[in-house]
Amino acid sequence: MQRIILILSILLILCLGVGVAFSDHGDNGRKRHKERRGLGEYQVPAVNNPLYQEQCGACHMAYQPALLPAASWSKILANLPEHFGEQVDLSSQDRDALGGYMAANAAESCGCKISRKILKSLRGGVPLRISQTPYILHKHEDDDIPPGAFERKPVGSRGNCKACHPTAEQGQYDDDLVRIPR
Ligand code: HEC
Ligand code: HEC
Repeated sequence: MQRIILILSILLILCLGVGVAFSDHGDNGRKRHKERRGLGEYQVPAVNNPLYQEQCGACHMAYQPALLPAASWSKILANLPEHFGEQVDLSSQDRDALGGYMAANAAESCGCKISRKILKSLRGGVPLRISQTPYILHKHEDDDIPPGAFERKPVGSRGNCKACHPTAEQGQYDDDLVRIPR
């Protein structure tokens, strides 16, 4: 009798062990799958072009091309001598190189949720500002943003994404990671 109990116990322990091993495997499998997909739900690909990072990240964050349609980027590039009250100087060579990168990575060429939502909200419009697209405006009219938040000193404007989205440079805008400075 004791022997049978011992054998049954060993079998039970073996079963449990196998069960744990399998469920572990399942979790790892799911995690790996997520990592392969790479981007979070509210994430766009980070800037990976050194020239763009340097030239377009000098005065403000280098905005990810996936946040505006290609037509907006070419309008911005065509207007650099009068860029939001600043004069941005670029050689024509640099401008062509940047134009190629921005067009190839614009909202249309990203399957990402933010890009699709921005494009849809534009209904064909060609804005110069990400912060003035209907989708982005809508995302920031929530009760979660206290009145005057955009005018606070460390923020300054709606275009200063990384003041409130500390992970903005990685293209990550998930609201779980938002922190509005005081
Ligand atoms: C000399 C400084 C300077 C440089 C260099 C510069 N910008 Fe700007 N940019 C500005 C200023 C100032 C604003 C307006 C800031 C604001 O009101 O939030 C602005 C705003 C923008 C906006 C709108 C942000 C919003 O509100 O959604 C975009 C897009 C933009 N810049 C893209 C670019 C690109 C692309 C380049 C590179 C070709 C570039 N900028 C280089 C100064 C600069
Ligand atoms: C004053 C702080 C502030 C600034 C500046 C700001 N955001 Fe946000 N943003 C927030 C907050 C807070 C939320 C979450 C709102 C909510 O809870 O619905 C949010 C939400 C978002 C979302 C939706 C995320 C989600 O999980 O639903 C996107 C996308 C986004 N912001 C992009 C931007 C971009 C791009 C810029 C710059 C052009 C920007 N934000 C500037 C505070 C800010």
